[in-house]
Amino acid sequence: MKSIVYRRHGEPSEVLTYEEIAAPAQPGANEVIVRVTKRMVHPIDGLAVRGIVPSPIPPTGAIPGGDGVGVVEQVGAAVGIAKGTRVMFFPVQGTWAERVTVPANLLIPLPDDVSDATACQIIINGITAIVLTRAALAADNHSGVTSPLLVTAAGSSVGRNVIALAQMRGHKVVALVRSDASATILSQSLAGIPVISTEHEGWPAAVAAACGPAPSVVIDPVGGDMTPKFLEVLADGGTLLTYGGLDARPSTISTIALTVRQHTLKGLNAYSWLATTTPEQRAAYIADLFEITRRSPHNFAEFREFPMTAAVEALSAAQATPRRGATILTSEV
Ligand SMILES: NC(=O)c1ccc[n+]([C@@H]2O[C@H](COP(=O)([O-])OP(=O)(O)OC[C@H]3O[C@@H](n4cnc5c(N)ncnc54)[C@H](OP(=O)(O)O)[C@@H]3O)[C@@H](O)[C@H]2O)c1
Repeated sequence: MKSIVYRRHGEPSEVLTYEEIAAPAQPGANEVIVRVTKRMVHPIDGLAVRGIVPSPIPPTGAIPGGDGVGVVEQVGAAVGIAKGTRVMFFPVQGTWAERVTVPANLLIPLPDDVSDATACQIIINGITAIVLTRAALAADNHSGVTSPLLVTAAGSSVGRNVIALAQMRGHKVVALVRSDASATILSQSLAGIPVISTEHEGWPAAVAAACGPAPSVVIDPVGGDMTPKFLEVLADGGTLLTYGGLDARPSTISTIALTVRQHTLKGLNAYSWLATTTPEQRAAYIADLFEITRRSPHNFAEFREFPMTAAVEALSAAQATPRRGATILTSEV
């Protein structure tokens, strides 16, 4: 089967190859083989290829991709899912290949009205949004203050999913983006939500005016130089939920300010999801994700698709600014 492979870290154009590799072995009793149709290109994919996040390379080479969408092709003896079922799956390493072995407990069957292109935008990014909104609402209730959630990098796929989930649960949101150009794009699809750009110095005053009471929760994947600024606008006793490092530089924060203002700084990731939820909770949350695809179709409508042969171009397109929807890698050539 065909796959994207890298054998050393570096610039994608220098290290990625599209080549023939061995197909997966017969599935174990609790596994299936999925023919992958689409997978979204995530910021972490480029970081892993470049070696900026830890990503060991096995002797046979590494295959990018940690989630995907496809069709069940072979089924292990103990698995109760039919061949031909459309599914999404996470976390599964090596999905930039035509086929992948998936433990059956990681499969999420797809309803007919959720397309493959939409599903690949709600798998890791939707689960991350669930983890974040659960933590945000828990922190907000704990503080006893009901103020809007401040969502940064709000035009990102995760950010849009967070906003859609929060809206569905009746929570107010203020959206923050890094440029006026991004604000213009996001405002077109977020009716009734204030979208504020941090491009100009006065943005904290605009946040204060839009929020009313200072936000008791900020949800942020930017980090770097922005962390102390986000802490500044956070209410006393509030929580900054961090889930990424779009600005990879370390943040400098004052522990004195943290102490005096009783702020909580908490890191979260989607990988905690399996360990922190029951199967029943997961089913309910996944139902919510499918529901946001129906209530907020504009979130998922704009995307660009690239064949696997153009993986380098796809990684480059996924970094383009301002952000205009998802970048998707398809298995068709
Ligand atoms: N913790 C987890 O488990 C987990 C899971 C999934 C994703 N993530 C993280 O979540 C973040 C978003 O991922 P995604 O797939 O949703 O992203 P995405 O759809 O590719 O969008 C990236 C967005 O980030 C914005 N951005 C990029 N660099 C920025 C910076 N320095 N300052 C402010 N905004 C910046 C871009 O804004 P413009 O439109 O202005 O270019 C764009 O809207 C990434 O850091 C990713 O690694 C974490």
